[in-house]
Amino acid sequence: MQYRNLLVEIKDTTAIVTFNRPAVLNAMNTETVTELGEAIAALGENSQVRVIILTGTGKAFIAGADIAEMSIKTPAQARAYSELGHRVMNTIQNLKKPVIAAVNGYALGGGIEVALSCDICIASELAKFGLPETILGVIPGWGATQRAARLIGTAQTKELVFTGELIDARKACEIGLINRVVPHEQLMDAVMMLAQKIGEQSPLALSMAKKIIHEGLDKSLLEGCRMETEVFSSLFDSQDQKEGMKAFLEKRKPQFSGR
Ligand code: CAA
Repeated sequence: MQYRNLLVEIKDTTAIVTFNRPAVLNAMNTETVTELGEAIAALGENSQVRVIILTGTGKAFIAGADIAEMSIKTPAQARAYSELGHRVMNTIQNLKKPVIAAVNGYALGGGIEVALSCDICIASELAKFGLPETILGVIPGWGATQRAARLIGTAQTKELVFTGELIDARKACEIGLINRVVPHEQLMDAVMMLAQKIGEQSPLALSMAKKIIHEGLDKSLLEGCRMETEVFSSLFDSQDQKEGMKAFLEKRKPQFSGR
């Protein structure tokens, strides 16, 4: 499928979605957010694709929502824009396939929010993260106040939101916002290797693990552990469980069907 603001490439079982508005540091206007939702949904349905990588062209991952477009919105239009962003971030979070953010540069405002909706975030040492919305007179609108608070805690989230200051990739890793920092020129190789490793696992087990890790966050520990037992036992009815364990015993690589 062709998009105006995204490039989509499929290599073996990995899809790479690249934000491609370099003239505005990949700032996301309504069209880009809409295209992202469509691309993620389409890749979710593509049986060749097991892992999705999101990255950006040039010196930015995403420099946030498009301020020029946003600046003239009415409250009703701003609500629709926020709701659209939430729908798309939820599509990424609820996708049955792992999504990795490969943060190549600026991840600001909506850019952090896209990264936060991904499952794993690997950043170049040149990447910079920030939530600079309050200097614009607004707050994050695509989930950062909620997802960042759950991921890194309220103290770190408040510091990012209240100051709007940019932090480098090492600091982002130190506070648990991202998984790992790598040398800039090694970013895509490192992320492709990770995607390949994840792509070798059972797609069914991956989708169930992703689902219950997220659902468990809204539950008590006891309820979450019960849910884990349900999912663990239900997987013994799957082809992937039979194949995975048989392959181990036969000392070969498993060939998963995802069923
Ligand atoms: N929206 C629209 N245009 C943007 C943009 C954005 N978020 N970020 C950068 N641009 C544009 C600039 O206006 C500039 O355009 P011109 O060449 O036409 O002047 C071009 O991209 C290059 O940017 P700079 O010249 O500013 O580049 P720089 O290297 O000097 O600075 C930067 C880089 C620090 C990222 C700076 O561009 C910046 O601060 N950008 C805004 C970041 C921001 O505030 N993001 C949050 C947006 S609000 C949001 O995301 C709300 C939400 O939660 C949904």
